[in-house]
Amino acid sequence: MSGVFVSCALSALLISVALSDQPHHHHHHHQESELSFQKLSSPNADFAFALYKKLNAKATAGENIFFSPLSISTALSALSTGVRGKTHSQLFSSLGYSIFNQTQVNEVYKHLLHKLGQNLKNEQLDIGNALALRSDFIPLEKFLRDVKHYYSGDIFSVDLTKPDAAVAEINTYIANKTHDKIKDMVKELEPDMVMMLINYVYFRGLWKNPFSRHKTNSAEFHVDKNTTVQVDMMSMHDDFKVYRDADNHTTIIILPYESKTSMMIVLPDEEKMQEVEGSINKDYVRHWCNSVSDNYVELFLPRFSISAEASLANTLKEMGITDVFDHNGDFSGVSEEVRLKVSKVSHKATLSVTELGTEAAAATTIEMVYLSAILSPSIEINRPFLLFILENCTENLLFMGKINNPTVM
Ligand SMILES: *[C@@H]1O[C@H](CO)[C@@H](O)[C@H](O)[C@H]1NC(C)=O
Ligand SMILES: *[C@@H]1O[C@H](CO)[C@@H](O)[C@H](O)[C@H]1NC(C)=O
Ligand SMILES: *[C@@H]1O[C@H](CO)[C@@H](O)[C@H](O)[C@H]1NC(C)=O
Ligand SMILES: *[C@@H]1O[C@H](CO)[C@@H](O)[C@H](O)[C@H]1NC(C)=O
Ligand SMILES: *[C@@H]1O[C@H](CO)[C@@H](O)[C@H](O)[C@H]1NC(C)=O
Repeated sequence: MSGVFVSCALSALLISVALSDQPHHHHHHHQESELSFQKLSSPNADFAFALYKKLNAKATAGENIFFSPLSISTALSALSTGVRGKTHSQLFSSLGYSIFNQTQVNEVYKHLLHKLGQNLKNEQLDIGNALALRSDFIPLEKFLRDVKHYYSGDIFSVDLTKPDAAVAEINTYIANKTHDKIKDMVKELEPDMVMMLINYVYFRGLWKNPFSRHKTNSAEFHVDKNTTVQVDMMSMHDDFKVYRDADNHTTIIILPYESKTSMMIVLPDEEKMQEVEGSINKDYVRHWCNSVSDNYVELFLPRFSISAEASLANTLKEMGITDVFDHNGDFSGVSEEVRLKVSKVSHKATLSVTELGTEAAAATTIEMVYLSAILSPSIEINRPFLLFILENCTENLLFMGKINNPTVM
């Protein structure tokens, strides 16, 4: 195989799949956590692909999709510590967690949050959560303890009598955690905001084999049949892990970072993006991971930076999570005195791919309001490709998306 070309539109499904460390052979306890960690990676991957399909159905032609499934699953899991009853079983069921109890899920995230990003050579992966509380709102002690203990949650209060300062405080927090990749996440806060759950993910990895800047040249990228854009096309001759899935009309190439993480690019044949993204799921990714083999190829990959944001409330409702947005949502795990609901779920993610490596960041915010509040309506990669960042083929999806046009910021 010589020359993996992308010849049409750049439509990338970008998925970062996260990490599973080597099992700690000498610690039985760790092995058990490892086990349960893997149990959640499967429902999390299913949730990620279901979410991708929903977001894709809503996207306009040529729009890039990019998000962090892990960020969204983690934020919703932190939220689940505060909901009870039918609201809780509905949330767990939509996340695919029905066979687990809250303690098991909490333990998995605690382990995951501590483990991610450890022992990475020339790579950085940070994930964490925070709770911004209205200064006069006092949630149940157990809720705060759980968010802190299991979800590494930073807890701070914001003064909603000074809304601009409160917005700035939250945005500064997120910008700091994402190395300024996610700025101005929150535009405004609802006057009745009670608290906001925040999740952030930041990833930076250097390619094991960087591209040479001298070999980057302007080239065409075919967004669709009628649209061609100019991109900076990087290129390299090297041994890559490549798989040609003829039955699924797709070429797979894996680019490793210096540590255990790698990016998987899934390049459907011309005109085959819809077919591939329509049927893709975690089994495909696993199959591709296991099928690649070393091939000396010339790879052409655009250098690009994109960002995407989405308001997720309607999408999550379509996926079965309705009660938390509803007047009857049971938030008795957060407070027994005041009634709450989720007013907004927002997600923003950025991705930058260069000769040296990749930087990606994401943030998810879940805003909760008092219920009395007025309801606000609520191979030459030059054609569409799918892309994943994986560590050792485990299915924890850090990021996922579709880049239709690398020149659209
Ligand atoms: C959760 O499930 C585990 C394993 O089945 C069990 O040991 C534990 O007692 C359960 N915890 C709760 C709070 O039900
Ligand atoms: C974030 O804030 C901490 C504490 O103020 C500071 O030490 C750190 O350098 C900041 N990080 C970034 C990326 O700005
Ligand atoms: C390309 O242009 C033709 C003719 O104007 C149009 O019928 C077709 O829908 C366009 N295709 C895309 C993908 O925009
Ligand atoms: C596409 O890949 C999937 C996952 O490996 C496989 O199950 C399926 O059979 C393939 N489709 C075709 C048409 O070969
Ligand atoms: C990847 O996972 C396989 C089995 O799942 C294991 O044998 C291998 O050591 C792992 N490699 C790394 C680098 O973690």
